[in-house]
Parts: sequence; structure tokens; C-alpha cells
Amino acid sequence: MKNQKMYEADDKMISLIRDNYDLLQALGSFGINLGFGDKTVRETCEDNDVDTYTFLAVVNFAMNGYGEFDNDEQISVPTLLHYLQASHAYFLEFQLPYIRRELSESLDENDSLGRLILKFYDEYAHEIRRHMQYEQKTLFPYVQQLIDGEPANDYNVETFSKHHGAADKKLRELKLLIIKYLPQDGLHNNQLTATLHDIYENEVWLRQHAMVEDHIFVPAIRRLEQITKQQDVTRNISGMVFGNATAQNPDALSDREKDVIISLVQGMSNKEIADHLCISINTVITHRRNIARKLQIHSPAGLTIYAIVNGLVDISTVKL
Ligand SMILES: [Fe+2]
Ligand SMILES: [Fe+2]
Repeated sequence: MKNQKMYEADDKMISLIRDNYDLLQALGSFGINLGFGDKTVRETCEDNDVDTYTFLAVVNFAMNGYGEFDNDEQISVPTLLHYLQASHAYFLEFQLPYIRRELSESLDENDSLGRLILKFYDEYAHEIRRHMQYEQKTLFPYVQQLIDGEPANDYNVETFSKHHGAADKKLRELKLLIIKYLPQDGLHNNQLTATLHDIYENEVWLRQHAMVEDHIFVPAIRRLEQITKQQDVTRNISGMVFGNATAQNPDALSDREKDVIISLVQGMSNKEIADHLCISINTVITHRRNIARKLQIHSPAGLTIYAIVNGLVDISTVKL
């Protein structure tokens, strides 16, 4: 563990970077632009529409190597998904070709060991590409469907997590091969040593990437799957109780009426709703009467189910 410090939202972003330059790349994958001056982590994240909590979870986990995310409801799956997708693009489009160029410049391709190292590298790159493309074609679209509330039935995160590994065995062998090669070529030693260093950094990057997937992303998807299952059950019950016509026709309500429902579901009184929406208590009462008439729902519990089913509130914010 190189660093025991836990960073917080009020720390300056620049101090994180000063402590660990590798974070510059992570910032790029989060979609955080440089030029944040003296802003705090929270301010920088908010400027770039990145969830601060999730950013800090990944940064602290990557730097300290530990964290408990199995029951962490604050992790934002869309933020993580974006981060992992951008990390793949960085690795596949920049990092793998970059090391390939470095290697071919520092090796003698007329030498059989040199050729073997390049061949080995290409196989390694192919394996990593396959690993990441599987995630991009299968796991990431599934997660996006979950976020959109329309999960596929033929896939789940357990299928993914059972077969997920770091895929770094080949990289270790490659480093050994290069070390064997090193003493034979005095001319290119410096370049090859620098390349070896880059490969080593690559290995660390990949291990951290796999750990973020296993320890933060997978538990967060598992939670999202559970929530979606609960919503399915609620939707079915609601269909039975209220009839599908009302459940599928939220447009029958005005925006103001929806605001009133959201406030009611959060447990506000008529007076609190009136203050919150800057309207009179009488208007609140009229809205409530119209809502009850349009939806034929009269109980707070019924309104809560209606609000969840129609996406007016998130099920995780409602006490059931
Ligand atoms: Fe990945
Ligand atoms: Fe992976």
C-alpha cells in the first residue's frame, strides 16, 4: 500500500494529483477537464457533472487498495460505467499501441528472441482486447439497460463476475522474457528498460482496473438488479390493483400535480407542500382532490406505489 491517506470532497483536487500523478489519467477517464486551479474535489466534480462520492471511492480504493462497497448505496452506476468505458478506450486505443511502438523500437526484429517478445506482446494485447471487448459488448450494454429500467432477462452480473479475471499472467511472463533479453543488447538497453517500466505500470493499471470492476462496479450492479426486481414486483401489483390504464397514463396529470404527489410521498403536510411549491394551502387541497379523481387513488400508500411505478420518485428514496 503506497498511501494511507483518504481523500475527501473538501480536499483540493491539485493535492490529489501532487500525491499521485497516475490520477491524471483517471481524471481523463472520469471526464474531468484539467485547469481546475485551486478548486476542491467536490467543486471540480460538480463542474464536470461527475458524482463526487463515486470519484472519491475509486480514487481512495485505487490508492489505498481497500474499501467496502458491498452495501454502499451511494455509488453511482452511471458514473462508474462512463469511467470504465473511457478507461477501456484509453487502454486499447492509446496504451497498448504505445507500448507496441516502444517495444518494436527497442528490440532487434532480426533476433529470434526479439521477435518472440513482439509475438508474445501481440498475443497479450489480443487477450486484453478480447477481455475488454466482451465487457463492452455484453456487460456494459446490460448495465445501461438496467439504468434505463429495461434489463434483459438472459444475463446477470453473476454470469460476468464468475468468469472475470485480471488477465495479467501473460504480462508477467513478458516481463521475464524481456529481462532475459536485456543483457544481450548494449545499444538499446536504456530504451528497453524504460519500456519494461511502462509495462510494469501497465500491469498495475490493469490490476486496479479489474479490482474497481470486481469490488465497486459488480456490487453496485447487483444492487441495481435487486432494485429493478423490486420495481417489477411493484409494477405487477400496481397493474392488478389500479388497472394498467392508469399506471401507463401518467400524462393525465399536470406537472404541478406530479410535484404535489412527490411531496406527499416524502411525507409533507399540506402546509409544507404549500410552502415548498409557493402556492396556497387551498390550491394544494384542490390539486389533491384532482389527483384522487384522475387516478382513483386515495391512500398515501397507493400514491407511493403510483409514484414509484411512474418514475416520479426513486424506490431507494422511499420508506416502504
Ligand atoms: Fe474492464
Ligand atoms: Fe475486466
